[in-house]
Amino acid sequence: MKITVIGAGNVGATTAQRIADKELAEQVVLVDVVDGVPQGKALDMWESAPVEMTDTMIIGTNGYEETAGSDIVVITAGLARKPGMSRDDLLMKNAEIVGSCAENAVKVSPNAIFIIVSNPLDVMTYVTMKRTGLDRSRVLGMAGVLDSARFRSFVAMELNVSVEDVTAFVLGGHGDSMVPLPRFSTVAGIPLPELIPADRLAEIVTRTRNGGIEIVNFLKTGSAYYAPSASAVQMVESIVKNKRRILPCAVWLDGEYGLKDTVAGVPVKIGKNGMEKIIEITLLPEEAAALAASAADVRENIAKLKL
Ligand code: NAI
Ligand code: 2OP
Repeated sequence: MKITVIGAGNVGATTAQRIADKELAEQVVLVDVVDGVPQGKALDMWESAPVEMTDTMIIGTNGYEETAGSDIVVITAGLARKPGMSRDDLLMKNAEIVGSCAENAVKVSPNAIFIIVSNPLDVMTYVTMKRTGLDRSRVLGMAGVLDSARFRSFVAMELNVSVEDVTAFVLGGHGDSMVPLPRFSTVAGIPLPELIPADRLAEIVTRTRNGGIEIVNFLKTGSAYYAPSASAVQMVESIVKNKRRILPCAVWLDGEYGLKDTVAGVPVKIGKNGMEKIIEITLLPEEAAALAASAADVRENIAKLKL
């Protein structure tokens, strides 16, 4: 297993480190445009291998030659949000960056599965699919795992229970239009509406929706990366180990949930072939309307790119 991580910034470097710590690959290649940064970070990580007792070799580079033959490519390159900036402000700039990274990577790794992290996430997933020409099953956007993790962490705090027993379900786009679904979210199988009063649950849903900006407002010079990298690596692990986990991922929709020609976060079975199945569930009319609105936002942004 060879895994390339493009972008050696906060999310990319932490992703590479987590992959190595879990020994999910024989080799990780960290790519960035800034000379010395991927090389230095990769060497520093490799020097931690004897302490952590993992044999995953990490190398850093500014080119794509060393990435050839990768099984998985994680794209984290791009600009991150600053306070007062929406994810959509990043649209045009990151489309250019992500598009060129994806094109360079697929040339030398035509059989790779791509996991996209760069924002605006749903649109960047489309950009990658378009610029690589890959089937939608091989291009997965990471957002739902993170949004669900945030929801789960808030519920665990609220009820003072282990995060292990909390499952959460978040559909739709990554951003203000995400669609958390409390009735499909449980503690040890008990639906959340049985455990948390509706008004308090609504507050937790709002906090989940604003989970990204809450961290941006603390950090001031960048956005979250510990939970985002953990979430991307959960997707990597499901592919590497062919676990066939059901994880919320952003994928191109072709009629599922009544939606076409757009990307949205939906429950997906992920294994060695990437997306193996989209799980469709019956939504209440208001849930379906929220998902459709979120997907329409993404469609509108895709149209702005004129790809
Ligand atoms: P960062 O600024 O720490 O790192 C970005 C890196 O990309 C920098 O090292 C930069 O030099 C590099 N880069 C820029 N252009 C490049 C190119 N053409 N080729 C290779 N590398 C290039 O930012 P951070 O915090 O790592 O975030 C990265 C992206 O991930 C941002 O767009 C951010 O909004 C997004 N993000 C998405 C999340 C999600 O849930 N989908 C969660 C967290 C971040
Ligand atoms: C987040 O949700 C910035 O999208 C990123 O933290």
